[in-house]
Amino acid sequence: MTSDQNTVSDSLFNSEDPIFRNKDLLKIGHVPKADRIVGRDTEISKLATRLNGAVHGYSPDNVVIYGKTGTGKSLVSKHVSSRARNAAEDGVEVGTAYIDCAEDKTETQVISSLSESLNDENQTGIEVPYTGLSTSKYYKLLWDIMDSQYNSTIIILDEIDMMQDDNVLMKLSRAEEAGKIDTSIGVVAISNKIQYVENLNERVKSSFQHKELFFKPYDANQLREIMYNREDAFHDGVLTEDVIPLAAALSAQEHGDARKAIDILRHAGEVAYEEESNKVLEEHVRQAKQHAEKGRFRELIDGAPTQAKASLLALTELDINSNKDAFMTSEVYSQYEAICKELDIDKLSVRRVRDILKEQAFLDILEIERVNMGKKGGIHLQNRLIEDSEVVRETILEDTRMDRWIDG
Ligand SMILES: Nc1ncnc2c1ncn2[C@@H]1O[C@H](COP(=O)(O)OP(=O)(O)O)[C@@H](O)[C@H]1O
Ligand SMILES: [Mg+2]
Repeated sequence: MTSDQNTVSDSLFNSEDPIFRNKDLLKIGHVPKADRIVGRDTEISKLATRLNGAVHGYSPDNVVIYGKTGTGKSLVSKHVSSRARNAAEDGVEVGTAYIDCAEDKTETQVISSLSESLNDENQTGIEVPYTGLSTSKYYKLLWDIMDSQYNSTIIILDEIDMMQDDNVLMKLSRAEEAGKIDTSIGVVAISNKIQYVENLNERVKSSFQHKELFFKPYDANQLREIMYNREDAFHDGVLTEDVIPLAAALSAQEHGDARKAIDILRHAGEVAYEEESNKVLEEHVRQAKQHAEKGRFRELIDGAPTQAKASLLALTELDINSNKDAFMTSEVYSQYEAICKELDIDKLSVRRVRDILKEQAFLDILEIERVNMGKKGGIHLQNRLIEDSEVVRETILEDTRMDRWIDG
């Protein structure tokens, strides 16, 4: 880089951002103020009812919140728990903790993070070592910390289906009756897998008494309002009129995902910035949508096993190379076999591939329809890709184990 360029980039760096006034408002973890939360009054008050005991020093209920991504589950849980903490009646101390189980996956990680985040060293005199203790020692610390500081504790376990050990739920729900603590605990478990509780082992299931709450996807109007409420992330006059309605319409088309809507809006601003435009235009939104899709999809698929990628790639190749858009499982399987051969990987049975496709249908990557082919034909499953096929293909081929597959 020449010194000339340095000067230019320095002055760019120092000058004010022409697009964003406060980009932080568009961060995913950002918790908007109460008056900026749209269309969740019922969910907020239902959750508050469940946690109400905490405010008076009694046991709050355990709650499981279900709903697809971007329906406000994390936001509403954080919002309500922090209000409960502030609303606690005189003489009642409410502790709140938030754990993202996608990050803290093991029992020890969850318990040590909980201890750490609930602990006020000045009050308890306890120092929580970051690692190095046994799981049972971390539990002991946690009970001590809660007992010495709080009458009631609300624990949010977000993305709980990522947690490797269900024990945590059992231990937390039994602590009080087992006499391990004098304080009470309410767990708010959040999952986008509807079968989460069903799949828990019986012992955990029976000890984890809970109520359930379902969050529905947003419609285009709600998505629009959510974005208008954060319009001040941009400088006045930067967003052209069509930007928010278009971003809302595009996100509502899939499943009313507010995260996606906000992602698109932020990316649109970034695209405008990169193109040195001083306004955000419709075309920036369309480019941003592609980008957001890739981001979401990458999150879903990045850590997936090679076999899952190969199965999905099979459907994708069929989609790209034919003029149909739905394919029988047997067709997907033949294409899958060809891919395995080319990549020199083991081949799974038709049944396993069918199961993999079902898992991906649950994630809204594809959809499966049962079609009745008449007396002789019997019942068949038709698989149809929902995600954009080019986006899927490109993302899968980013995996070095897959990139030997050049063309179908
Ligand atoms: N009702 C709402 N009002 C305002 N912003 C919302 C609302 N629901 C979701 N959001 C925003 O959308 C993004 C995704 O929401 P989040 O709570 O993370 O969804 P989930 O946990 O269900 O995947 C966050 O940035 C959040 O602040
Ligand atoms: Mg969430």
